Amino acid sequence: MSRIHEALKKAEEQRAASLGGQAEPVVAEIPAAETAAAASLPAPNFSPAAPAAPPMPSFGASFTFDTLLARCAAVNWSPDPKTMLFFNGEEQTYGTEEFRTLRSRLYQLREKQTLRKLLITSALPKEGKSFVAANLAQVMVRQHGRRALLIDADLRGARLHQALGTTSTPGLSEYLLGECDEFAVMQRGPMENLFFIPSGRVVSSPAELVANGRLKFLLNRVEALFDWIIIDSPPAVPVSDAGLLANYCDGVLIVVRSNATPFDIARKTRREFRDDLLVGVVLNGIAAGSSYTQYYYSAYGQPNGKGEAAR
Ligand SMILES: Nc1ncnc2c1ncn2[C@@H]1O[C@H](COP(=O)(O)OP(=O)(O)O)[C@@H](O)[C@H]1O
Ligand SMILES: [Mg+2]
Repeated sequence: MSRIHEALKKAEEQRAASLGGQAEPVVAEIPAAETAAAASLPAPNFSPAAPAAPPMPSFGASFTFDTLLARCAAVNWSPDPKTMLFFNGEEQTYGTEEFRTLRSRLYQLREKQTLRKLLITSALPKEGKSFVAANLAQVMVRQHGRRALLIDADLRGARLHQALGTTSTPGLSEYLLGECDEFAVMQRGPMENLFFIPSGRVVSSPAELVANGRLKFLLNRVEALFDWIIIDSPPAVPVSDAGLLANYCDGVLIVVRSNATPFDIARKTRREFRDDLLVGVVLNGIAAGSSYTQYYYSAYGQPNGKGEAAR
């Protein structure tokens, strides 16, 4: 058993002993998809220069879902069939059941706390944040009538548009720069009720853009129209964006890559977020055939500060 497993197990035991009536954190394990593609990711852009923020644009009155449907672009996506698990009509693909389990755990949690805007993050690049965010959004809209908005807020290493097979611009950075309204940046793909805001063009100061107040404005405007808003974030350890993004969300789900994320780095990631925002951990990329029922651990403490073992 790896160090992270031992630590997470200890945390789970201590947390279980101390929990009382608290909402249970979500824990899920996602296997490596059978035909995982070894995609080469673009180099992240860590340029620190900050542009002057233009004034907040006025994008008009609030609007209905019908208006959104009518005004946002219907785009013909070409999702990667190897990693976008719910697009090919094959509902029993390896990994889909785990996403359904994750969905039901999130719904259970939502009975006890506000949970609509969910940040998906992890310590480092290539741990599966985008994979989890995209498939989670897909499994959410597989339930009849549920609507999800997926936002690529990784302005440094955007990848979701590649996985979904669509364009990256205009997107979030254009919105945050005040150049486009929400209708111009939101895409409607082939899956009913799944909407997507790509990252937009590469910018020199992602952290400043994310913090300029417009993302909060955007979320406020569209929140009521969706059952879930799933935000894909940059890695939490090297840059500050994920912590900023978390301030706009109701919950943070941390992805840990099986046999890859070092425990001390996972622990550092956990410390980047307020206790009350942490809703759980996804152990991603477990080996095919692993019996992970014996490794069903929780990493996080509760808002009352209990369950400190994983810190
Ligand atoms: N469970 C999984 N099964 C198969 N491929 C995966 C899995 N998790 C991640 N990948 C793949 O690994 C690569 C890195 O994942 P990605 O989600 O882009 O990481 P991050 O967003 O954390 O940088 C991508 O090619 C992705 O499709
Ligand atoms: Mg990513």
